[in-house]
Amino acid sequence: MVSGKGIIGLKYLGKNDIEQIIETAFSMRDISRRSVKKVPTLRGKTVVNLFFESSTRTKTSFELAAKRLSADVVNFSYASSSTSKGETTIDTAKNIEAMNPDVFIVRHASSGIMELLSRHLKTPLISAGDGTNEHPTQGLLDIMTIRDEKKRIDGLKVVVAGDIYHSRVARSDIYGMGKLGAKVYFFSPPTMITPDYESLGARVTYDAKEAFTDADVIIMLRIQLERQAAGLFPSTREYARAFGLNDQRLKLAKPDVIVMHPGPINRGLELSSSVADNQEHSRILRQVENGVSVRMSAIYHTIGEGHEYTDN
Ligand code: CP
Repeated sequence: MVSGKGIIGLKYLGKNDIEQIIETAFSMRDISRRSVKKVPTLRGKTVVNLFFESSTRTKTSFELAAKRLSADVVNFSYASSSTSKGETTIDTAKNIEAMNPDVFIVRHASSGIMELLSRHLKTPLISAGDGTNEHPTQGLLDIMTIRDEKKRIDGLKVVVAGDIYHSRVARSDIYGMGKLGAKVYFFSPPTMITPDYESLGARVTYDAKEAFTDADVIIMLRIQLERQAAGLFPSTREYARAFGLNDQRLKLAKPDVIVMHPGPINRGLELSSSVADNQEHSRILRQVENGVSVRMSAIYHTIGEGHEYTDN
């Protein structure tokens, strides 16, 4: 499924694909923790980062991932490209494809653009997030972070809280974690989710006590502040009080609960600073570290299978 084709959504991957990518990611993390953080595995390959939307974590970590595997990396910048003169996304991608890259990493505001691009391109694609649809490598790094800590996914109570309706992270998390047997709860204001999200396999709740009680893992999502203008919640203060995670609410969860967030965090809104910086429970920066490893693994399984990831 992955080799030679890429990763455009966890919806399309099987349990074994996901487990294989995570297994390789742990080996890749060993490389990243060495003093010399590079193996020659993808020497001579070219990775193109096509980011039509802004990014800190995903773009930087894909670039580091490719470089640690010795691939050449080209970063397309929307602002200085001819896309800003009106060239279509497909024309832009086809023109860069004519330069013979080996894989495209694509972030775009349009949901479903990956399926469209995959019909027009021969080059494999790895999604770095499309609209409100999916962010598959974020889902994979979330799974890796949980596996790292809890040694399993099956049977864990995982709460994903916030603006579920507009979250590509929530969708990739439920596709991935659902396949691995987690009990996923979506906790959200009713204006930011619809009950039919249960058809994805999650339990939908608007009740903080039901959501957080005995949680093994809590994933807080960023509230997009423009949603307040759209009337989806009355005020940031009200949102923090009713739906945010603070020290008091954290006590409802299991004593060894881990707290995650894809970033960027709105401190004091969806997550209090005391929880975000809580060394015992917060795994937010571990997620960022694992993001490089998962992206090394994703690139490797897409264009490098058959090559060893050793120093030889
Ligand atoms: N988690 C995430 O996608 O962050 P960036 O938008 O900074 O890439």
